[in-house]
Amino acid sequence: MKIAMLGFGSVGKGVYQACLDHQMFYASQYGVELEVEKVLVRRPHPMLGERGVTTFEAIVDDPEIECVIEVMGGIQPAYSYISRALKAGKHVVSANKDLVAEKGPELFEIARNHRVKFCFEASVGGGIPVLYPLKSSLQANRIESLSGILNGTSNYILSRMQDDRLAFDEALAQAQDLGYAERDPSADISGLDAARKLVILASLAWNKQFSLHHVRCQGIETVRLDDLAEAKQQGETIKLVAEAMQASDGYRLSVGPKRISSDHPLFMVSGVNNAVVVKGDLTGDVMFFGAGAGGQPTASSVLSDVLNLALNQAVQLTFSNEVPSVIGL
Ligand SMILES: NC(=O)c1ccc[n+]([C@@H]2O[C@H](COP(=O)([O-])OP(=O)(O)OC[C@H]3O[C@@H](n4cnc5c(N)ncnc54)[C@H](OP(=O)(O)O)[C@@H]3O)[C@@H](O)[C@H]2O)c1
Repeated sequence: MKIAMLGFGSVGKGVYQACLDHQMFYASQYGVELEVEKVLVRRPHPMLGERGVTTFEAIVDDPEIECVIEVMGGIQPAYSYISRALKAGKHVVSANKDLVAEKGPELFEIARNHRVKFCFEASVGGGIPVLYPLKSSLQANRIESLSGILNGTSNYILSRMQDDRLAFDEALAQAQDLGYAERDPSADISGLDAARKLVILASLAWNKQFSLHHVRCQGIETVRLDDLAEAKQQGETIKLVAEAMQASDGYRLSVGPKRISSDHPLFMVSGVNNAVVVKGDLTGDVMFFGAGAGGQPTASSVLSDVLNLALNQAVQLTFSNEVPSVIGL
C-alpha cells in the first residue's frame, strides 16, 4: 500500500522511521508492503530527499496514494486536507484529537459517502489501544462511566512534585527538558488536552457529539506542594483525572485535580503514562494503561490503523451528531 504523510514532527518522524524499520516484518507477517511515497513538509527536509513535497496537490492528485496519514495537528488546514483526501477516494489515518473532537461526524459522513475510512485510534492515549476496544470488544456493555489520566505532561509534573518535592515551575521545566512538555504547555496544564480526549471517548461510548463546552475543566496550576504532601500523608495522591458518567438525568463530564486513594486503579499511574478505566455494566472496570504519547508509541496506533486498512479489516468508528443532555456544568 502506498501511503503519504502530512506533517513531519514528533509523531511524523516516529511513524516514518517505524514504517521503514518494520517494512520487512509487515511484509512477512501480514503480506503487506507499506511504502511511504510522499511527506508533506513546509520546506525540503534532508531525511526525506525526493519524498518531501511542499504542496498537498502533489499528494491528493497522485492516484497511486491509497492512504494519507495526517500528523500535522490543528483544525485548519488539516480539516480541508483530510476531507479532500477522503473525497479523492483515499483512506485517512489521523492522530488529531482537536479535529476528531470538533469535526468527527462530518468526516465520518464524507468517508462513508466516498466508500473509504477515516481512522483515529492514535488521537486518544497515544500508543494505548482504547478507542477500538471500547467500540468493538466492549460493545455488549452499557458504558456506565469512563475515567482516566489522559495527559502525560501534567501527570509527570504532579508525580515529580509529589515524589521529589519539586515546585510546579521546576517540575514543568524538567518535563520540557526531557521533551515531555511543549514550549507552550498551556493546553496540557489547563486540562484542555485531557478534555478533548474525554470528549472523543464519551462521544464514542454514548454515540452522541459531546464538545468541549460540555466539560467542567480545571487544570493543575492551583495544586500546591502542601496539597500533595497532605495527600501523601494520608496514603493518597493527586492526579489530573478526566471523568465522564451517565446519570439518570444526563451526562456529567469533568477534568480536574482529584485526590485518589491507594485502592483506586489510577493510583499507580505515574510519570508520563496514561490510563483509561471503562466501567461497563457487564464487565465492571476494565483498565487500559501505557505510553500516552511519544513518536514510537503513537506510531504503533497509527500504523495499526494503516495495516487494518491494507488488510481490509478496518472498522469505521463513529459517533452521531446528536447533542447530549449534560448536567453539572
Ligand atoms: N506528540 C505526541 O506524543 C502525540 C500523541 C498522540 C497524538 N498526537 C497528535 O499528533 C499530531 C502531531 O503531533 P506532533 O507532536 O507530532 O506535533 P509537532 O511535533 O508539532 O509536528 C507537527 C508537524 O506538522 C507540520 N505542519 C503543520 N502544519 C503544516 C502544514 N500546513 N504543512 C506542512 N507541515 C505542517 C509542522 O511543521 P512546522 O514545524 O514547520 O510547523 C510539524 O513538523 C497532533 O494532532 C497531536 O495532537 C501527538
